[in-house]
Amino acid sequence: MTMEWNASSYETLANLMTKWGEEFLSRLDLRGDESVIDAGCGTGRVTEKLLERLPDGKVFAVDGSHAMVEAAKERFAGDGRVSFSRQNLLELEVEEPMDIIFSTATFHWIRDHDRLFERLAAALKSGGLLAAQCGGEGNISRINDATEKVMRREPFAPRFENWTDDKLYAGVGATEERLREADFEPENIWLHEEPTPFESVEGLAAYLGAIILRGHVEALPETERVPFALAVA
Ligand SMILES: C[S@@+](CC[C@H](N)C(=O)[O-])C[C@H]1O[C@@H](n2cnc3c(N)ncnc32)[C@H](O)[C@@H]1O
Repeated sequence: MTMEWNASSYETLANLMTKWGEEFLSRLDLRGDESVIDAGCGTGRVTEKLLERLPDGKVFAVDGSHAMVEAAKERFAGDGRVSFSRQNLLELEVEEPMDIIFSTATFHWIRDHDRLFERLAAALKSGGLLAAQCGGEGNISRINDATEKVMRREPFAPRFENWTDDKLYAGVGATEERLREADFEPENIWLHEEPTPFESVEGLAAYLGAIILRGHVEALPETERVPFALAVA
């Protein structure tokens, strides 16, 4: 799956991620002058809320997608508190270690959490905080089951013969172990339900095609993309 995202379709469909991101952000106790890495900033919708909490702080907004970073740059043009970098978080490099790593709706897109946590630990000051929200074990399991079935159907099946999914919905125990391995001291790791009703099958299909199933859809010719997302929905 490419690292590239369609920033404009994300903007139109990201209300859910923004809501979850804001809820998560509201749990954080911030002084307002911290240096923060937003790991997987996307178009900057949650970064914007983060900046409201950091009047004297600074944000290093990192994302692997060129289109996402460009959209975020446009959103924060002229705001001296923000700097941007297009980087794979698995290779993350920072000029100086920072106080906090904040991340929303991103880690489940990255399969190698061992490597991810190792790079994040190297980017934090000693005693720094990692605060991340993402899809966890069991997330979208009904969608995954439906996707498996639709992938085996004609005309889609031949396109998925060598398919591997590179997302990871990690559990609490495995995450705790990986964090300790990377020298973090995990304090609070949890899973919670996030029931997400859609008003129509078409609305769900649009969300699936642009976000959850974007890798699958990329493997299909243009004419099969909407039918695939609709069949899963
Ligand atoms: C669903 S979006 C979330 C964006 C934003 N945090 C939000 O809540 O709206 C996931 C983002 O993670 C980024 N991402 C996924 N894997 C990445 C990686 N390995 N390195 C850097 N960014 C990555 C994607 O490019 C995308 O912008």
